[in-house]
Amino acid sequence: MSEQKFTVLPKHVAVIMDGNGRWAKKRGLPRTDGHIEGAKTFRRIGEYAGNIGVRHITFYAFSTENWSRPEAEIKGIMHLFYDYLEEAFDRLDENREKGIRLRFLGDRSRIDRELAGMMDRIEAVTADCSKVNLNIALNYGGQQEILSAVRSIAADVQNGTLLPEDISLQSIENRLFTAGQPPVDLMIRPSGEQRISNFLLWQSAYAEFWYSDVLWPDFTERDFDEALAAFEKRNRRFGGI
Ligand code: IPE
Ligand code: IPE
Ligand code: MG
Repeated sequence: MSEQKFTVLPKHVAVIMDGNGRWAKKRGLPRTDGHIEGAKTFRRIGEYAGNIGVRHITFYAFSTENWSRPEAEIKGIMHLFYDYLEEAFDRLDENREKGIRLRFLGDRSRIDRELAGMMDRIEAVTADCSKVNLNIALNYGGQQEILSAVRSIAADVQNGTLLPEDISLQSIENRLFTAGQPPVDLMIRPSGEQRISNFLLWQSAYAEFWYSDVLWPDFTERDFDEALAAFEKRNRRFGGI
């Protein structure tokens, strides 16, 4: 079984799904077509990661900075989230059998109400699934996430429920979208860029980074395997020797 392919699996894999626009441009297609293909890759890789035993996987789908894109492109991307969620409800029994817990990381206040409602509902109906935690970062920014944790801590200090000297790393972690989930072990970024672009800043403190020139729509299970194989060989020291 493919599960035996790797002796060490990352507990949490993060994927920056980048390169959709360039993929489309190369083919003379509108950028939205790149996002459509990218959404297919997301389904494939999400499914594959679960099959080989990755317990937590987070996909970066839309950043807080992506609002600066043309409106038509944003609309196209949001439409793809609807499609995905509709499908997730259609295939709920199947997904529940596979034990897939779906969660969205990010600020929902700027998301269309109907879409945000679907996000809330899918999280509720998969909350008891525990084999694979599939997180989708939508309107997500790592700095904004830390800022909102700081505000929540400040409010607790102000109302007297938390003493400044009791603020710990855990106090911050508990207030992140990923509360209760392990830190990122492996960060994958295709498309040739080598930057973190405001993704899971806190959670990636000791993540191993793996880059590839492949554009996200072309990313395959084999590329994912390559990243896992590279991860296996890394010597993680966490500051030790
Ligand atoms: C990633 O692909 C998808 C999102 C950021 C929503 P891009 O759209 O950034 O593709 P490139 O980087 O322009 O090729
Ligand atoms: C990162 O890609 C965000 C997502 C993949 C959702 P971007 O294309 O937005 O990142 P930059 O602008 O190249 O850093
Ligand atoms: Mg990009």
